[in-house]
Amino acid sequence: YACDRIRNFSIIAHIDHGKSTLADRLLELTGTIQTVSKGASTQQFLDKLKVERERGITVKAQTASMFHAHEGQEYLLNLIDTPGHVDFSWEVSRSMSACQGALLLVDATQGVQAQSLSVFHAARERGLTIIPVLNKIDLPAAQPERITAQMEAIFGIQPSEVLPISAKTGQGVRDVLRAIVERIPSPEGRPDDKLKAFLFDSSYDRYRGVISLVSIQSGILRKGDRIASSHTKKKYEVTELGIMHPEEVPTNDLHSGQVGYIACNMKQSSEAHIGDTLHRVGEVIEPMTGFQPAKAMVFAGIYPIDSNDFPKLEESIKRLTLTDRSVTVQRESSTALGQGNRLGFLGSLHMDVFRQRLEDEYDANVIITAPTVPFKVIYKDRTVLVSNPTDFPDVADSTSKVREIQEPIVKASIIVPEVYVGDMMELCFSHRAEELDYRYLDTSGASSSRVILTCVIPLSEIVSDFFDKLKSRSSGFASFDYEAAGYKRSDLVKMMFLLNNKPVDALALIIHRSAEQSVGRLWAKKLHKVIPRQLFEVPIQAVVGKKVVARETLSAMRADVTAGLYGGHYERKMKHLENQKESKRKMKRIGSVDLPQEAFFDILRTK
Ligand code: GTP
Repeated sequence: YACDRIRNFSIIAHIDHGKSTLADRLLELTGTIQTVSKGASTQQFLDKLKVERERGITVKAQTASMFHAHEGQEYLLNLIDTPGHVDFSWEVSRSMSACQGALLLVDATQGVQAQSLSVFHAARERGLTIIPVLNKIDLPAAQPERITAQMEAIFGIQPSEVLPISAKTGQGVRDVLRAIVERIPSPEGRPDDKLKAFLFDSSYDRYRGVISLVSIQSGILRKGDRIASSHTKKKYEVTELGIMHPEEVPTNDLHSGQVGYIACNMKQSSEAHIGDTLHRVGEVIEPMTGFQPAKAMVFAGIYPIDSNDFPKLEESIKRLTLTDRSVTVQRESSTALGQGNRLGFLGSLHMDVFRQRLEDEYDANVIITAPTVPFKVIYKDRTVLVSNPTDFPDVADSTSKVREIQEPIVKASIIVPEVYVGDMMELCFSHRAEELDYRYLDTSGASSSRVILTCVIPLSEIVSDFFDKLKSRSSGFASFDYEAAGYKRSDLVKMMFLLNNKPVDALALIIHRSAEQSVGRLWAKKLHKVIPRQLFEVPIQAVVGKKVVARETLSAMRADVTAGLYGGHYERKMKHLENQKESKRKMKRIGSVDLPQEAFFDILRTK
């Protein structure tokens, strides 16, 4: 295929607006898949993982090539599927780098949502040709005219460019194929230039090692070629290559403009650097630029429920990270939970998905500690990134040389129907939002008008249950997106919980000073509820530095061992009481609280 017969595109949309369904229709219409619609399975072809199906989100970008005849010519269309959640915006951006165009899919019943905006801007920044598509027009609730007007107002898109379709029934989908060929420019780059292959995704295969997805920017890549990475300078030999159609189909070569997979004796997935440019050994090329590596922003400890399972769990985590390289892994141990790993994720949904994959695919039984974000602890002569509460300095301690603590902040946007604006603002304020602002998205002024609310908010405030609150307080209507906005000075403190005067490391938290009281009380109460009574009294304290901010007392359980002893044996009775007292004292002295693991799990779960 000469470049002018190739089109590289992705489908970008807010969650649930129909990307996977449209991808299926395109693959079907071009004859790339037949079996799926005929077979018993109706699940979308591109959503391969079980988690994705259950949650209805696309986690890992999938790529497929298809052939399409248009006005007597055959074209090669390369679809690069993109994930649809804010945590995965990094994957969206890397897939976009391999495209010249994007189908911007908007649900005709819901209109433009928070991620429609962010993916639109990302595509525009990369100079992609955008084809606006209005989906779900088969639904009675669809409002094609209104949403088209909205798209015009928000994106500056001409209404005549918008393609109304139903990805479900297939109505209008042929026009999408036509538009892909007619509107999206063909990739540049010449087959006779030096080889440049842009690596935009990788996966791991037990037998062949790392399989990379590449888009050939120029030149021709052939089986047996000796290639090198611009990034690591390591050399490889291409042992297999081909296109995704939609499964791997080996070919003899990949020409400039094409997208395909390669296997090249790459043993470890850490060698496949997303955004790397591969070239022929001995040739000098200018590597592609403008690529941002994934940055873990949410960290949590993962521990096996049964500590004997640790080696198995660690192995499973290792395997899973081979397929998801954006997760960072470090060992850690906790006196309460034993051996574990500290993992870094792109966001909290990413964390959930990873946990679920561990459970589904590796049958692991795990407990996850409260998520934290990377804080900057600034000393006179250095800055340290701290993402584990255990490593957080005691700022109240005057001997600590900490000059300043900073926390990551994000620019958030929330799109909601006007009636929920008040609730949303309240929610944002209660999570330390600043620079709150809003404007109308519709010009109609109707009561169902939608509003975009923007604010600057600490990342730590949105990593646990912010999204759930947002959804429940807006009856599910609010959509949410955010982008990193740097770091900001903040008054943060470490909160520890003491059981019988002993700190419990797994329960340490980093919180804003203003939340000291409320969080301290809440957690102390929670602990009081889940910890079983001991033979002695157990003080439960929430402390910041040396200050106790909340306290609960777990009263002692009285084991009345004298009840069975009958009269007269005074000495025996006394001895028993002595013993009991002694054992009480002993327990207190060593400060050991009998705490079943389940209590821990309860605490961390109910967070
Ligand atoms: P994510 O992967 O989570 O981003 O979702 P997606 O954008 O891939 O959406 P998906 O294709 O899974 O569609 C979401 C839901 O909308 C599914 O229940 C589809 O069956 C439904 N749907 C998609 N397109 C249409 C359509 O044209 N009409 C109707 N009625 N339903 C549709």
